[in-house]
Amino acid sequence: WQLISPKDLSLPPVVFHWLPIIGSAVQYGNDPINFLLKCREKYGDVFTFILFGRRVTVALGAKGNNFVLGGKLSQVCAEEAYTHLTTPVFGKDVVYDVPNEVLMEQKKFVKFGLSTDNFRAYVGMIEDEVEHYMKTDVAFRTYQMDDINEWGSFHALKTLSEITILTASRTLQGKEIRNALDKSFAQLYMDLDGGFTPLNFLFPNLPLESYRKRDRAQKAMSDFYVNILRKRTSGENTEHEHDMMAALMGQKYKDGRPLTEREIAHILIALLMAGQHTSSATSSWALLHIAANPEIGEALYQEQVQHFGTPDGKLRSMTYEELKQLPLLDSVIRETLRIHPPIHSIFRKVISDYPVPPTLSAPSKDNDHPYVVPKGYFVLSSPAVSQVDPLMWKAPFEWDPYRWTNPEDVAAQQVFKAYSEDGGGEKIDYGYGAVSKGTESPYQPFGAGRHRCIGEQFAFLQLGVIISTIIRKVELRIEKVPPQNYHVRPAAGSSSLLLTWISRP
Ligand code: HEM
Repeated sequence: WQLISPKDLSLPPVVFHWLPIIGSAVQYGNDPINFLLKCREKYGDVFTFILFGRRVTVALGAKGNNFVLGGKLSQVCAEEAYTHLTTPVFGKDVVYDVPNEVLMEQKKFVKFGLSTDNFRAYVGMIEDEVEHYMKTDVAFRTYQMDDINEWGSFHALKTLSEITILTASRTLQGKEIRNALDKSFAQLYMDLDGGFTPLNFLFPNLPLESYRKRDRAQKAMSDFYVNILRKRTSGENTEHEHDMMAALMGQKYKDGRPLTEREIAHILIALLMAGQHTSSATSSWALLHIAANPEIGEALYQEQVQHFGTPDGKLRSMTYEELKQLPLLDSVIRETLRIHPPIHSIFRKVISDYPVPPTLSAPSKDNDHPYVVPKGYFVLSSPAVSQVDPLMWKAPFEWDPYRWTNPEDVAAQQVFKAYSEDGGGEKIDYGYGAVSKGTESPYQPFGAGRHRCIGEQFAFLQLGVIISTIIRKVELRIEKVPPQNYHVRPAAGSSSLLLTWISRP
């Protein structure tokens, strides 16, 4: 089909809209999944919508995921889609501010720091942080007073955002960042995060205070990391064997050049931002669902008792290897990521006319030419849509962790098997060219292909220990899980995210 001449190709249908430049921005922004599902009913798996002047061609389903995420470097490009959002936040010379082959090398350096050895050390650190938080934060007052009869409450997203940054900095980011979090670093993080929003994605530069704050915070944070780095190189600070900075300091590019101080600083900022909203949103949703399904909360608790109960009725700490052997906990995280993948849309910029394979969108009687997505358009894949596709999943909108271990749920079992065999695309060869399979899966909370997430194992570790530590200590309740609100950020005090809890006897 690629031999067809361009004049025989046609454009995908454009979603109807009243406002020329704004296009479908409001509908997409308010509820992207519903918007995309409705468009699919009308236009099929491939269609274009207008997003503030940009033309975005959506490709849905497993084949659509493959079209976007399995595209060749000569066809689609992530740098051009994201750099205006990420470079002012992460800083220069890393991730999307460099050519793809440099990013591939940088991902390999980070992988080196995400070692099993480090993960083993992190389990206890994360458990420690969560326990300390519960012993000191005001939301857990009655727990601190050992009052087993009184219910307390906490705001899921606020609490889990705090716990996520505390645990990520204690482990990956290193001691100095963890200690500074109680002081100046927290404000720098908030200012930088204020510049990492959908508004910044749509409008790279506006004369707004939040943009100025973002730029000041980026510079200050970059200096902060460089200072830590210098203290380490001068030997003034030596306690840091398991963190990411230590791992990056020893790495060299293929041409023998070591990373510069700024590259190390900016990679650490990128990792901080990449893991923060994704993990805190996931742990919040997981706890909300556990609270709404107390029998699953109890089953999770019993899983802990079965594996870690001691003769005196207490629960001992777990090892990294043991954490990976808890099927219900694993299924709870997997299922939460299915219904609530934190990254619902993945974008690429089209850099040369990109024909749509007929297997994805066959010509119809109204349109007998195959589609082509022209250079200059964006393409969008949505794991969030394929992960709730009624054609693929049983009861797709139901949060049911047991689907992942139920042999009768053929669809989930197939996905699970393919995911485990392919490592969910983890087996990426970072040599130029070869990338993982897995781009055609309907289940891709961590993306697929050359830009696939490298933080999955860390995320499962962090989420697993946080959830275990909390459910060991308290029972959670909520009447029902609130609907997804795409505008909520941690600062928002939406009371619908309030979880109530009571200490376990
Ligand atoms: C890429 C999801 C946690 C680092 C991605 C992508 C997704 C994703 C969907 C692909 C983006 C694209 O193709 O455009 C998630 C989820 C997480 C999570 C759901 C947690 C639940 C983390 C953590 C880290 C991290 C903890 C760091 C330790 C990265 C990096 C990339 C990436 C470096 C590669 C970007 C690229 O190659 O273009 N993540 N992530 N992520 N993520 Fe994650």
